[in-house]
Amino acid sequence: METGKDVRIGVIGGAGWLGSAIADAVLAAGIAKPQDLALSYRSTRPDRFPDAFWTSDNQALADRSDVIVLSVRPADWVDLKVEAEGKLVISVMAGIRLAALGERHRTRRIVRTLPNAAAEVRKSYTPWIATNDVSDTDRAIVRAIFNACGVQDEVRTETEIDYLTGLTGSGPAFPALLAEAMMANALAHGLDRQVAQRAVNTVLIGTGRLLEQRDDCPTETVQTFLDYRGTTAAAIEEMLSAGFGSAVTRGLAAAFRKSVRMGEAS
Ligand SMILES: NC(=O)c1ccc[n+]([C@@H]2O[C@H](COP(=O)([O-])OP(=O)(O)OC[C@H]3O[C@@H](n4cnc5c(N)ncnc54)[C@H](OP(=O)(O)O)[C@@H]3O)[C@@H](O)[C@H]2O)c1
Repeated sequence: METGKDVRIGVIGGAGWLGSAIADAVLAAGIAKPQDLALSYRSTRPDRFPDAFWTSDNQALADRSDVIVLSVRPADWVDLKVEAEGKLVISVMAGIRLAALGERHRTRRIVRTLPNAAAEVRKSYTPWIATNDVSDTDRAIVRAIFNACGVQDEVRTETEIDYLTGLTGSGPAFPALLAEAMMANALAHGLDRQVAQRAVNTVLIGTGRLLEQRDDCPTETVQTFLDYRGTTAAAIEEMLSAGFGSAVTRGLAAAFRKSVRMGEAS
């Protein structure tokens, strides 16, 4: 890994869901040693990562770190006063733009990313974009951190990040929504709750594993099921004619609008 030696990483909001998932992935991948990892909390200091430096003083965290990851909720960032003078700042917050981040934290080395909940199992998809002042070494650190959390891609514009905030940032919620509808249908058909839950969860897990192994284009996957005919094709055709595609399109458009509005407000 060309991330330079002994990189010191600080995660503001390291006690949270995403912040602790990133800390866990960073340690597991050996990107930083525990003593070079600083994590901040607001209310309660967690028991996790006992060898890391825990603090409730975000400026102290920033002062002892080379790379500062911002992982608080966007509404809490509004009150966050941390100077990172010239340091590499990586935001995972939805909606907050590069310009606002740079102005607030007094640095031009800014990266805006958008991981998702699957970072917890190191399967996040994380798009990111960097300012011009972000060096190749900085980029290598960003790639290393988000490869440790799953898969990452550098994208071309902040608008793409705003769009991906809905598509992949919120992404794990959408198969969950489908699973909930399938489960409700199974219960309505009299299946035991335990059987229905195992059945539906196993379908999702198996689908994920298949996708991971084959890496097919979704269009080809659906076509393969349609060509198979039988019950699968009957279900797909009925779901499509009931407006499945337009429900997804409308949902993703709502997420995109919300993400753009959050950026305008920051
Ligand atoms: N979770 C996801 O799937 C996901 C996906 C994409 C992007 N994100 C982004 O990731 C960020 C974090 O989300 P999350 O889901 O991890 O939320 P979370 O679980 O609520 O974590 C946020 C953490 O930040 C702490 N915090 C708030 N203000 C602080 C401060 N001034 N100093 C130190 N710690 C502070 C909170 O402490 P308290 O316990 O005191 O509230 C909490 O532990 C958000 O901006 C979100 O947009 C999350």
